Amino acid sequence: MGKKALILTRKSQNCSNFGLLNSTIVKEVITIKDKAFEMFIEQEVIEQGIKRIASQMNADLVGKNPIFVAVLNGAFMFAGELMKEVTIPSEITFVRLASYHGTTTTNNVKEVLGLNESIEGRSVVIVEDIVDSGNTMVSLLEQMKTHRPGDVRIATLLFKPAALRQKLHLDYVALEIPNDFIVGYGLDYDGYGRNLKDIYKMK
Ligand code: IMP
Ligand code: MG
Repeated sequence: MGKKALILTRKSQNCSNFGLLNSTIVKEVITIKDKAFEMFIEQEVIEQGIKRIASQMNADLVGKNPIFVAVLNGAFMFAGELMKEVTIPSEITFVRLASYHGTTTTNNVKEVLGLNESIEGRSVVIVEDIVDSGNTMVSLLEQMKTHRPGDVRIATLLFKPAALRQKLHLDYVALEIPNDFIVGYGLDYDGYGRNLKDIYKMK
């Protein structure tokens, strides 16, 4: 990959309704590697969504001493912002998922790595960046259950209802989005764009 491909370029795209005063909408467009993305959800809106679910958690989980289990890499920014808004006594830990290649199945089972704390009997809140088909979350839930938690809740920054292929109950959803490919606020395109403060969608 050439060095140029690593650079995020910014330009403004003028979407004006030709000539009409005060009707110019300037949408920011960025390029990551070979793809163009346009501004989709601003940081302020994202953080309002996070504040809303944090308030729900503060009410639902009071006295439960929950342990938040955030999934790296995608959930790092969401987890950081969420934990600033959680006011009840709680712990946070981070896990990674690795594709597990069984000998008898071609299913893309994900193995949970790095869960060093005991979650036996605990109230667990899984913290994920996005639920798309739901396959990853179902696999993660199965793995978590082998550690015999007391109860497990799911918190996700983003949810694409139209893409869901699994029966899954999501307890906390900060933002529902259409079935677009997005980057920013922890989510990546081929490793890049995780650091963007706002969320962009592929053009
Ligand atoms: P699922 O198993 O189909 O629900 O997909 C979950 C994983 O796919 C997420 O944890 C992300 O890593 C990735 N993913 C799904 N949709 C997007 C997207 O729009 N942008 C970036 N990553 C995505
Ligand atoms: Mg992820």
